[in-house]
Amino acid sequence: MHQLPLVLVLHLLSLVSNSISAYTWPSPQYDALEALLYEGRRSDGSSLSSLVHPCRKRTGTLASVPAEWLRFAFHDMATHNIDDGTGGLDGSIVYELGRPENFGLGFNQTLGDFEAFPNKVVSRADVIAIGAIMSVATCGGPIIPFRGGRIDTWTGGPNGAPEPQHDLATLTESFRKQGFNQAEMIKLVACGHTMGGVRSADFPDLVPPNPNSVNPVIVDFDTTMAFDNDVVTEYLDGTTQNVLVTTPNRTMASDLRVFEADGNSTMRSLADANAFQSECRDILTRMLDTVPRDVTLTDEITLLPAKVTAAQLTFEKEQLVFKSSFRLIQAINATANTRRTVTMLWCDRYGDSKDCAGETSTALPVSTLADDPNVSPITMKLGYYFLNYHFVVPIDSTASISKFWFRVDENDGSSPTIYNNGETSGSGNGYPVDQDQVLLAPMMSHVDVVSNGSYTKTYTNRNGESFTRLYTLVAAVRDGVNPSRVYVDATDVAIRDFPFAINAQVDLKQNDTAHAPLAGYTFYTGVVEDIGLQLSVDLHAVASEQTYTQSFMQTLLLDNTPYVAPSGVNTTASTGGALSTIAPALGGSWRSLLPLVVGALLGMAL
Ligand code: HEM
Ligand SMILES: *[C@@H]1O[C@H](CO)[C@@H](O)[C@H](O)[C@H]1NC(C)=O
Ligand SMILES: *[C@@H]1O[C@H](CO)[C@@H](O)[C@H](O)[C@H]1NC(C)=O
Ligand SMILES: *[C@@H]1O[C@H](CO)[C@@H](O)[C@H](O)[C@H]1NC(C)=O
Ligand SMILES: *[C@@H]1O[C@H](CO)[C@@H](O)[C@H](O)[C@H]1NC(C)=O
Ligand SMILES: *[C@@H]1O[C@H](CO)[C@@H](O)[C@H](O)[C@H]1NC(C)=O
Ligand SMILES: *[C@@H]1O[C@H](CO)[C@@H](O)[C@H](O)[C@H]1NC(C)=O
Ligand SMILES: *[C@@H]1O[C@H](CO)[C@@H](O)[C@H](O)[C@H]1NC(C)=O
Repeated sequence: MHQLPLVLVLHLLSLVSNSISAYTWPSPQYDALEALLYEGRRSDGSSLSSLVHPCRKRTGTLASVPAEWLRFAFHDMATHNIDDGTGGLDGSIVYELGRPENFGLGFNQTLGDFEAFPNKVVSRADVIAIGAIMSVATCGGPIIPFRGGRIDTWTGGPNGAPEPQHDLATLTESFRKQGFNQAEMIKLVACGHTMGGVRSADFPDLVPPNPNSVNPVIVDFDTTMAFDNDVVTEYLDGTTQNVLVTTPNRTMASDLRVFEADGNSTMRSLADANAFQSECRDILTRMLDTVPRDVTLTDEITLLPAKVTAAQLTFEKEQLVFKSSFRLIQAINATANTRRTVTMLWCDRYGDSKDCAGETSTALPVSTLADDPNVSPITMKLGYYFLNYHFVVPIDSTASISKFWFRVDENDGSSPTIYNNGETSGSGNGYPVDQDQVLLAPMMSHVDVVSNGSYTKTYTNRNGESFTRLYTLVAAVRDGVNPSRVYVDATDVAIRDFPFAINAQVDLKQNDTAHAPLAGYTFYTGVVEDIGLQLSVDLHAVASEQTYTQSFMQTLLLDNTPYVAPSGVNTTASTGGALSTIAPALGGSWRSLLPLVVGALLGMAL
């Protein structure tokens, strides 16, 4: 049989996989996962990363937040059964708390940390995986590659997480079922037990409580809070403080049993700091990618060097406007070019210049915002931060808009770069505006948070507050559509302990009284009652020929969306050794991100 030389085969394979994974905008799930991982936040600026970064301790218990998040991911995955392909990282842990294997305040508080972040395209299991990746990176560990697309389950699985009283055969079988052999079990435990420790509140026999303190006593597994191999070297040189090794009750010394299961040979292989980092990256990647057999993960979600983070044709201040945000990466260790100009260009949809038959319109950004490098520990570790260019331009409704793109000129004599949805300068067809028939108008809409419990449903959050959110939504329908129905599909899965807060259709009615027709559009209003924390809507206008749709994949940020501060996390940066070179975190990184959002309405996919 004729055989291609290996080098050539590899080359062809890499070309194929590149073209399969080529990104085009919009890709709602990719866009949302990329933002959560590399910007660390939802589209309204609510930050997941600021809860954990830089390597934070929790207010109250003073436990390591990253350690809690990493353990949470392991225990969610631990119900995987390789024999029948069930279980894995699937959010089942939500329904498994309170079991002896998942006992403790750390689990419950972690569940609360994550509750606001799942949405229609980001599963809770993906949030848990991203949380684990942030946790490892922010404490000085490796960047674990992230693939998305985990699917949440709505029930608990069988027991599966190992417990310290288990004997070696039980532990080995437990890891085999999860898909890991003996050496991999040892690596996984060492890579997990480099952060955090054992608490008196959960294991009083291992760690005696301090009767004079309301907070638990926590005995860390090693002498640093960082993700480093001290847990290995201190074990090997006999100085370890890890109570799962040192406890005089040998029944409870599970780490000792695991670590010496192969005569310490795997542990010795991890004594090299670089080997530890790379072995942990590989084994934790496998841990996070352990999913039920019927789930197919996406390709790796990589950082997009140039990204349209929001784009929307909408009404604002009695005017049809097109808004967009364009995000570029900037190397932390280089100086941003202050002479750079970024221009948005677009084509008309109707008339003489339809699809750029005549002229192209241009606009300069209304504002430029540089993110703090602390926005996500992953992007920071890659050596970048973001520059965001925000555009708002009035659109003549008789011409409308069909597509847009950007020109970046460094004004240094080099040719400008054209970003038009292709892989290289100028190679794409532009970013599409797929329809202008039905448009949500967030800046005409508003939300009321009602806390008197008189509505059909209310939700009691972890602070004991009951509320319902009433979203009064305003949509604009272009004259000539004559819809038989205008409605939204409303989805909110950001709620702690049941599958979804809302998954319903709500009709919008023509409302000339409150909103007189304008610029060839008529306005419709309707109210969505939601008890969750992140509403997504798809807006539809049903016309005789077809149904027009505009989707909001992420957080619906309305004119008066209230600012909600993060809670439960100590905002004092810890002094983890690996972090000494990192600039102090923003006092309230969440609030300081807000102007970006209010200015630009992020998270919109047309
Ligand atoms: C032989 C298997 C394992 C056993 C018996 C075990 C047992 C334990 C116990 C008893 C604690 C203390 C919990 C508390 O005091 O509330 C703990 C903490 C922890 N475990 Fe494991 N574990 C195992 C494997 C793993 C693995 C594979 C990972 C992750 C890759 C992991 C990550 C963690 C982390 C990060 C903590 C610290 C949590 C914190 O400080 O809040 N463990 N483990
Ligand atoms: C926050 O953490 C710092 C450092 O770990 C600690 O000194 C401080 O007491 C903590 N504050 C609260 C409110 O827990
Ligand atoms: C954590 O939540 C579970 C389930 O709601 C509950 O049974 C358990 O008592 C809680 N544990 C702590 C320490 O709060
Ligand atoms: C050691 O731990 C086991 C499991 O928790 C317990 O049953 C046993 O009583 C303990 N032994 C001693 C001497 O404390
Ligand atoms: C493994 O190393 C530990 C720590 O040095 C030591 O106490 C233990 O005896 C070793 N076990 C084996 C089987 O070599
Ligand atoms: C800046 O960062 C890049 C990428 O991390 C690196 O290759 C380069 O050496 C750095 N330059 C300086 C001056 O540190
Ligand atoms: C609850 O709040 C709504 C909206 O603010 C109000 O219309 C209603 O009268 C209130 N009900 C009670 C029982 O206070
Ligand atoms: C019309 O819209 C206003 C505000 O957007 C709202 O208060 C009013 O209830 C709406 N009227 C109808 C009939 O839906």
